[in-house]
Amino acid sequence: MRAAVVRSFDQRPRYEEFDLPAPSSPDEEVVDVLAVGLHPRTKSGADGSHYTSTDALPMIPGIDGVGRTNSGKLVYFILPDTAIGSLAEQTVVDRRRSIELPDDADPVALAAAMNPAMSSWVALHERIDFRPGSRVLVLGATGNAGQMAVQIAKHLGAAEVVGAGRDAERLAALTMHGADTVVSLAGDADEAMRALGSAAADVDVVIDYLWGSVTEDALVALVMARKDAGKRLDWIEIGSMAGQDIRLPSAALRAANLHLIGSGQGSVPTRNILRQLDALAAEIAKGTFTIGTKVVALADVETVWNETAPAGKRFVFVPQI
Ligand SMILES: NC(=O)c1ccc[n+]([C@@H]2O[C@H](COP(=O)([O-])OP(=O)(O)OC[C@H]3O[C@@H](n4cnc5c(N)ncnc54)[C@H](OP(=O)(O)O)[C@@H]3O)[C@@H](O)[C@H]2O)c1
Repeated sequence: MRAAVVRSFDQRPRYEEFDLPAPSSPDEEVVDVLAVGLHPRTKSGADGSHYTSTDALPMIPGIDGVGRTNSGKLVYFILPDTAIGSLAEQTVVDRRRSIELPDDADPVALAAAMNPAMSSWVALHERIDFRPGSRVLVLGATGNAGQMAVQIAKHLGAAEVVGAGRDAERLAALTMHGADTVVSLAGDADEAMRALGSAAADVDVVIDYLWGSVTEDALVALVMARKDAGKRLDWIEIGSMAGQDIRLPSAALRAANLHLIGSGQGSVPTRNILRQLDALAAEIAKGTFTIGTKVVALADVETVWNETAPAGKRFVFVPQI
């Protein structure tokens, strides 16, 4: 079969022949791959930088996708940390990590949306006691996962959602996705933090895709601006688009009822991630959430790999075009 193959972590995947290994247990089966999203996690797996990387080469990147089983079922699957990923004409899936989709579900929409949507859906269901009526700040709301987080927080009953990000056009579009207030992180950092402190002082939950210096500043801005310092603030670290580390003043932890946690592979056990998939996929299949997609042929993987997707859209590789 043909697949996107990585032979060195400093090179882009190439479209080439690859022998698919046979399933190694009765729980595994081969599926024809229909659509695979190009998520940040897929790219960090392919360059060996993700914290779960095993350094095994050659590898086929791709952590999830939509496929068709031999018996004709349409499935969404998540792969384990494997060198045989989903960016291929076929892959091996574990039935325990797959869910059946309605036959009329759009494979491209599911492949694009499940990973970015799962980041906040799982965090709000599995990492905190999220209550309808809560107020939420999405830090990094202009990315695919951030746009989803705004919609998901509203869908789950948030009374108020503040979206903060850099891109002006996508920031403006967030109000159509349910954001009550948007805050620009572009331009002068002090000004941005003043605006953030005023718009999000009393939120209950922060969904953080940025980390790095943005989170350093935002954390202090929010803690200092809180009217009720004893009110619980769940700060959920999900992505690190603005940096891997932060410097955290000890006073920030003393001055507010701050609960700093992460959500991702490891902090959420696999079984807890899997138990959320059916409900989330059903909402995406129904069209509850909006996500932009840009379909590309898997054969073009090497060309598209380092391109930036059009604003607000996710690249989705389709093997059969
Ligand atoms: N833990 C989990 O379960 C989980 C699941 C899915 C994703 N994630 C992580 O979540 C993060 C976002 O994923 P995604 O799918 O939304 O990626 P994406 O669609 O590529 O969006 C990333 C956004 O980050 C913003 N950004 C980058 N650098 C920034 C900076 N210095 N300051 C402010 N904004 C910055 C950009 O927004 P602008 O265009 O406005 O600059 C960009 O649109 C990634 O780190 C990903 O690995 C985690």
